[in-house]
Amino acid sequence: MTSRAHWGSRIGFVLATAGSAIGLGNIWRFPYLAGQNGGCAFLILYLCCVFGLGYFMLLGKLAFGRTAKTNIMDGFKAIDVKLKKQHSPLWGYLGGLMAILNGVIISGVYVIVIGWTFLYTIESGLSLFGAHNPVDAQSGFQHLTHAFQEQLLWGCLCILVTAIVISKGVKKGIERVCLWLMPLLFGLLILMLCRILLLPGAEKGISFFLSPDWSAIGFSEEGLDFNLFSKVLLTAIGQSFYSLSLGMGVMFTYGSYLANTDNLKRDAAWIVGLDLMVSLLAGFIVLPAVFAFGLEPTAGAGLTFITLPYVFANMWGGAFWAFLFYLLLFIAALTSLISIYEPLTSLFMDKLKLTRRKATLLTSGLNLISFSVTLASLTGNLPIHLFSRNLFDAFDWITGSFSLSFTMIICCLYMGWIGFVPIWHNLQTTSPSGHIFRNYLRTSLRLTAPIVLTALIIMSLF
Ligand code: PHE
Repeated sequence: MTSRAHWGSRIGFVLATAGSAIGLGNIWRFPYLAGQNGGCAFLILYLCCVFGLGYFMLLGKLAFGRTAKTNIMDGFKAIDVKLKKQHSPLWGYLGGLMAILNGVIISGVYVIVIGWTFLYTIESGLSLFGAHNPVDAQSGFQHLTHAFQEQLLWGCLCILVTAIVISKGVKKGIERVCLWLMPLLFGLLILMLCRILLLPGAEKGISFFLSPDWSAIGFSEEGLDFNLFSKVLLTAIGQSFYSLSLGMGVMFTYGSYLANTDNLKRDAAWIVGLDLMVSLLAGFIVLPAVFAFGLEPTAGAGLTFITLPYVFANMWGGAFWAFLFYLLLFIAALTSLISIYEPLTSLFMDKLKLTRRKATLLTSGLNLISFSVTLASLTGNLPIHLFSRNLFDAFDWITGSFSLSFTMIICCLYMGWIGFVPIWHNLQTTSPSGHIFRNYLRTSLRLTAPIVLTALIIMSLF
């Protein structure tokens, strides 16, 4: 048996893991959620979720992976072995298989969106891009989402690039690429921020993002609107988990490549910090850009692909800035897609005894299927519907409102109630900490996270 791969350096691990966390969730989703839910008020709630729960979930998943040192499905068994006890194989099936299934489904949806960013990058680079009025911007995007062949092409290119990186391995592929791309991403973000802040009227966006509108999250003079508050709170929690790449076995798998000598608490703090920083930067780029042109920050998912093209087309040097913006979005999304591939590839290598190359081929093949079926349903070429939605919307809805949370619940319950002792012991080897930290982590895993996630599922179902 070949020994398990491992990271080449601590910074490589931190950047690769941050690369997974930083993605469409930060740059596409976070600004529009903040735009829809009261700007700074949402931000404050989000910060509470990230520091109060997200960090601990991330730490738990990384430590779980590092303790088990295997693929996500065998991870539960590996802990059982350490405990010298046998628990139901259902844990592995539910937690592991669901994580893998989530990966296959989400990668299909994710590739479609990365394809859009790829196309927007190329078009703006060639100065072919521009929508001088909002109606053009809207119809341009609608046209794209109905063009099957065009999207298929861009998606396939993304799959190819991802497969090449994954086939090179953990150290020579994932780590090396992230060591280059992540600093580039931060550089581009800062450059972009400087440009946007120079726009006349940008200050309105900044003040929107910095002055809390409490009524948008349910606090007003008449008292607390509990329904609204819990809805926004759960949205913030869901966003923090998604942004930290939880629920797909990614953090577990990345953790399994770690040496027991790395200080995990510190590294997890870095990852959370970098992820948060990008969400904030994205907020400070997208919202001021929208306000500077007198547009609505509440446009929702279309903010990036409909509102911003209009903004760039009407800005001096817009094609160049559009190129930089979509390039950075593409980089962020690509490093996330890479991470979605890794749990599957690692599983296939272990279970089917495949070489990394063959395992990568299998993973990308599965992704190609999920991507093309989802795409064909989105464009109407294939009349498949689920819950009376096309597959793109249906998969997004199922994973966002149910399956990611469900997988997390299983993992948290296992980590909190069964595997806590070896996982905690593994964490302690590099960063001893007191019993307050221990109890907080354990309670988060045993109770807080499962309760909150169940609430999230119930809320989205009704
Ligand atoms: N964290 C990624 C983002 O913010 C999405 C993701 C989720 C990636 C789960 C991998 C696993 O876009």
